[in-house]
Amino acid sequence: MSKLEKAMERAKQARGIETSPAGAATIPTPVNKGRRLEPIDPVYTQTRVYPFDKALLEKHGVLTTAFNPIIVEQYNLLRARVMEAMTSNGYNSILVTSPEPEEGKTLTAVNLAISIARESNRTVLLIDTDMRQTSVHRYLGLPGGTGLYEYITKGTPLSELLINPGLPRLTVLPAGMPADYPADLLSGPAMQEFVRDVKGRYPDRYIIFDSPPILAYADGLYLARYADTVLMVARSGSTKEDNLRQALESLGDRPLLGTVLNRVPKGQGPAYSYY
Ligand SMILES: Nc1ncnc2c1ncn2[C@@H]1O[C@H](COP(=O)(O)OP(=O)(O)OP(=O)(O)O)[C@@H](O)[C@H]1O
Ligand SMILES: [Mg+2]
Repeated sequence: MSKLEKAMERAKQARGIETSPAGAATIPTPVNKGRRLEPIDPVYTQTRVYPFDKALLEKHGVLTTAFNPIIVEQYNLLRARVMEAMTSNGYNSILVTSPEPEEGKTLTAVNLAISIARESNRTVLLIDTDMRQTSVHRYLGLPGGTGLYEYITKGTPLSELLINPGLPRLTVLPAGMPADYPADLLSGPAMQEFVRDVKGRYPDRYIIFDSPPILAYADGLYLARYADTVLMVARSGSTKEDNLRQALESLGDRPLLGTVLNRVPKGQGPAYSYY
């Protein structure tokens, strides 16, 4: 190791950051004291940290500080409304869903998570529960080989699965390997225990679940039971009114936080227009 490398290593250690064999920086993360509860305990091991790649994220429509201020403003408005409703109702978990595929669930979930983590002092855990089209990790330029699937099916400790995407206060749990029968996994006891754990551990932390389309699969219906509330995304010019109504009805007695009209063409709508 050169002198420079040694000095850098010492500086990293002083900041509590180490370099994993794969080269990714790591920071302290909660560890297991008891059984499955261990990974998010405030005794730390390592969470992988990946650098925040501005150019890549912007290419994917993900919020960065250099993003178009008009778009940032729309997400800020969404964040403010979501946080106000969550706080006044005592909620700490939210399911982001939509009736059909490709309506903007994942991008909304990712940008909402970033907006909350960046602009408020709340921590956010973003969980990809879409085990069919795993995509949160792709939007953030993170490795997605392991995640929720491995936790549920193999008991892999969360400390090995959680990722920090280079932003303070934001932690991501990718979906992991695509599953053959996600609804069975999502409705099973391991998932129920997982949700109980993550929701109860830090009442101050927001948990955002990204989900598959709610009309296409049963997955979202199970997930809606786990989250305190639901944010329904509709795509401007594409989501059919009937489908939106059906999706809202399918939630039954689950509280609806609100509906986001996504991809409103510029100049044609109220808030949250984009491109
Ligand atoms: N507001 C927006 N403006 C421009 N493009 C958008 C917007 N929202 C989503 N997109 C694009 O639309 C596509 C689908 O978005 P996204 O992945 O968020 O949808 P989804 O509902 O999660 O899809 P799926 O049902 O497959 O999970 C992506 O290419 C995304 O970049
Ligand atoms: Mg998606």
